[in-house]
Amino acid sequence: MTDDKNLSSLQPDIIRNKLGQSIFAPNIVFHETVDSTSTLLKDLAARGAAEGTIVIAEEQTGGRGRMGRAWLSPGHSNLYLSLLLRPSVRPDQVFVLTMVMALATIDGVGAVSGLGPMIKWPNDLYAGGRKLGGILTELSVKDRAVEYVILGLGLNVNWNPGEERGVIYPTTSVLKETGHKISRNGLLVEILISFEDYYGRVLAGSIAEIYDKWNERSMLFGKPVEIKTTDGSLFGRALRIDRKGALVIEDDNGKERTILSGDVSVKF
Ligand code: BTN
Repeated sequence: MTDDKNLSSLQPDIIRNKLGQSIFAPNIVFHETVDSTSTLLKDLAARGAAEGTIVIAEEQTGGRGRMGRAWLSPGHSNLYLSLLLRPSVRPDQVFVLTMVMALATIDGVGAVSGLGPMIKWPNDLYAGGRKLGGILTELSVKDRAVEYVILGLGLNVNWNPGEERGVIYPTTSVLKETGHKISRNGLLVEILISFEDYYGRVLAGSIAEIYDKWNERSMLFGKPVEIKTTDGSLFGRALRIDRKGALVIEDDNGKERTILSGDVSVKF
């Protein structure tokens, strides 16, 4: 395979071989075009797909983001990945898996490109002040226990984002930040290997280091922020996230407030 082919196409066989004994190697579902990798995987999960099943696609026609937004998913340039987990954790512990996905993506991007993305609570990856990627975490709960979790990652890699319609925030890509195209096969393998390492720690109950690392990479803490929620805007200084993944801010009256979900922006 030439370098050109490696740069231009996702190669499931190469990914599988490089993953070796990983839990993600046996069940890689690849599609050229799919509505949404997460929607497809949800269907497979409901029909009993094994933990570690992953769905990857070159292009999505109905990519989904948080809060019902669309995720722009042009072909042959980015990563659109969903992975299936069946962890023995409580529903209120699932946020740590979103954190792990963010850290694994940062590790992978760093390893192949040298770029050091930051995290914007709750699920965004940023580079150079623009959105590089996002994570969509969905779970199924049965009898108050987690039946399965689907982590969907959209990462802008070799794309040259312009002023596409429907994009509501400044957007970037690894290519735009570094000036170089990279192999998405190599990047995906790095992300999955790193993810599996963190996931093992989560299952072993060692999450303190994951929180520390996540906090180190957060672009919000100590900064004045505005949080848009369904009940309106809140202002304050971002302090930390709590163990359930909620954002804790200090409001203008010096009172701590805990925010479960919303859209945050840093105020300068
Ligand atoms: C966000 O920033 O709102 C999250 C975006 C998540 C997009 C990914 S792309 C792969 C997976 N399939 C989807 O339909 N969505 C996620």
